[in-house]
Amino acid sequence: MADPLALISERAATAMAALDPDGAPHDPVVRPSQHADAQVNGALALAKRLGRSPRDVAGDLVAALDVDDLCLTPEVAGPGFINLTLRDDALAGLLGDLTSDRCGVRPAAEPHTVVVDYSAPNVAKEMHVGHLRSTIIGDALARTLAFLGHHVIRQNHLGDWGTPFGMLVEHLVDSGLTDGDAAGTHAAAVSDLNAFYKAARARFDTDPEFAERSRARVVALQAGDPDSRRLWRILVEVSTTYFSDAYDRLEVSLTDGDYAGESTYNDVLDDVVAELEAKGLLVTDDGALCAFPPGFEGREGEPLPLIVRKADGGYGYAATDLAALRHRVRDLGATELLYVVGAPQHDHLEMVFAVGRQAGWVDDTIDVEHVAFGSVLGEDGKMFRTRAGDTVKLAELVDEAVGRARTLVEAKSNDLTDDEVTDVATAIGLGAVKYADLSSDRVKDYVFAWDRMLALTGNTAPYLQYAHARMCSILAKADPDDAASATVDAVRITEAAEHDLALALLGFDAAVHACADRRVPHRLCTYLYELASAYTTFYEACPVLRADDPVVRRSRLALCRLTASVLACGLDLLGIRAPTRV
Ligand code: ARG
Repeated sequence: MADPLALISERAATAMAALDPDGAPHDPVVRPSQHADAQVNGALALAKRLGRSPRDVAGDLVAALDVDDLCLTPEVAGPGFINLTLRDDALAGLLGDLTSDRCGVRPAAEPHTVVVDYSAPNVAKEMHVGHLRSTIIGDALARTLAFLGHHVIRQNHLGDWGTPFGMLVEHLVDSGLTDGDAAGTHAAAVSDLNAFYKAARARFDTDPEFAERSRARVVALQAGDPDSRRLWRILVEVSTTYFSDAYDRLEVSLTDGDYAGESTYNDVLDDVVAELEAKGLLVTDDGALCAFPPGFEGREGEPLPLIVRKADGGYGYAATDLAALRHRVRDLGATELLYVVGAPQHDHLEMVFAVGRQAGWVDDTIDVEHVAFGSVLGEDGKMFRTRAGDTVKLAELVDEAVGRARTLVEAKSNDLTDDEVTDVATAIGLGAVKYADLSSDRVKDYVFAWDRMLALTGNTAPYLQYAHARMCSILAKADPDDAASATVDAVRITEAAEHDLALALLGFDAAVHACADRRVPHRLCTYLYELASAYTTFYEACPVLRADDPVVRRSRLALCRLTASVLACGLDLLGIRAPTRV
């Protein structure tokens, strides 16, 4: 294990247990502080338990603490804190663990089968920024969990079923686009998905004959009428082609094999209801079949229903989600389920999870979680929309991001070919958008601001990407013998900035685990930003190529190389590329 704080925690826990007459386990509460590389604060709670003075207990703890190989002499400070400074040679030794492709990140102690439900846009509708957030956050979590050795199953719970499909199919018919082979024509006609949806909606609202046909169409569709199904499938195919293209452009890891739309569960909905009924979990309420999971109440304290089957016999969003939950646990073998969905759907999801618990699908061995996120706001603080008030189209957003990044790249570099400029601008533009989303606390709303996300300073992807490229360029410029000798064994730490950089590098493992375990990509972003800042301080204080002594030069080059690899690895977990030249 390379993380010095984790090593100190282990040692301190052992020492604390030795001081307790019952040998009880204690949390040593080890954290970095302003005054020391690590501060052990556990003596305070232990003193309380033993009824002794905290400073005395801290003194005994120092005596019992076996950290000579890692730290300089421990110091007791304040009411009973223990300040530890890591030894330079110990830090250099620990860096050896960072040289694998895993950059020192330990695999998860217990690998799980994790279903990550994310993206989930709706057929025949434009993906909105909420879906963009789900896509970006879900992808970062899926990548990070897979990196830790979990078996990750991506599930794109596409909205491809429900009452709107009656009017959408009728509108398709009226537009004369019913020939399944004319894929190109369809794509063109439905390419403006929102316009298509709005037109269908407008006719539904104003033309009674159309509305009547639409209702009949839903019935036919749900009854499995082959022609209705064929027409519906055209809509699904046009939409998924469009979404898949968006995923490719966004460089997210969702593939066609990950689509598991709501309609996938059509054939099992009767069975799911039968099972819930047999378990006594459903009651008829106004003709509808409802579950009333305990603990969910309306404003007046009345129990809230989860409508499993509507009075007209139709199934809705809740039924599908119940079927999906059962499938994920029973058939996919998930032991961990993450639903990366906007905060407004919290009650719906929690009710579905509660019914899943009542039904016995989910027990204590299974972790089901709503990974919620806030809204995307424009710079005016209102919901993020185009100037005309429409949903921002993903394709246009990507184009704008890459276009703006191109301006940035062109202003800075002069030795890239056109293709390289395009490639780098794509990496930076996408990186900026993704990182802006990931680096803010996901449950909060976040403000979409081009200038801030593309800034070359501050906690942004471009800052990290440029820092990474500068490290690569130093390595490329180094004398070949120096570069070849700049392995981790060459690291000799003497300067404070080198010490701090090494310490930052060794924090990678903890940051990745926290990101995955607590579902907080922003924790990893903050880490990468602090690492890049520690590097900047190091670079300003410690000449690398200009160091006269080859031993020093090679040591510093090795630090550059390690920092570049940790930065690239961390960005990759977030779904962001780190070009070597910008
Ligand atoms: N399609 C839904 C929407 O656009 C999101 C689905 C989220 N996943 C789920 N299992 N309910 O709001």
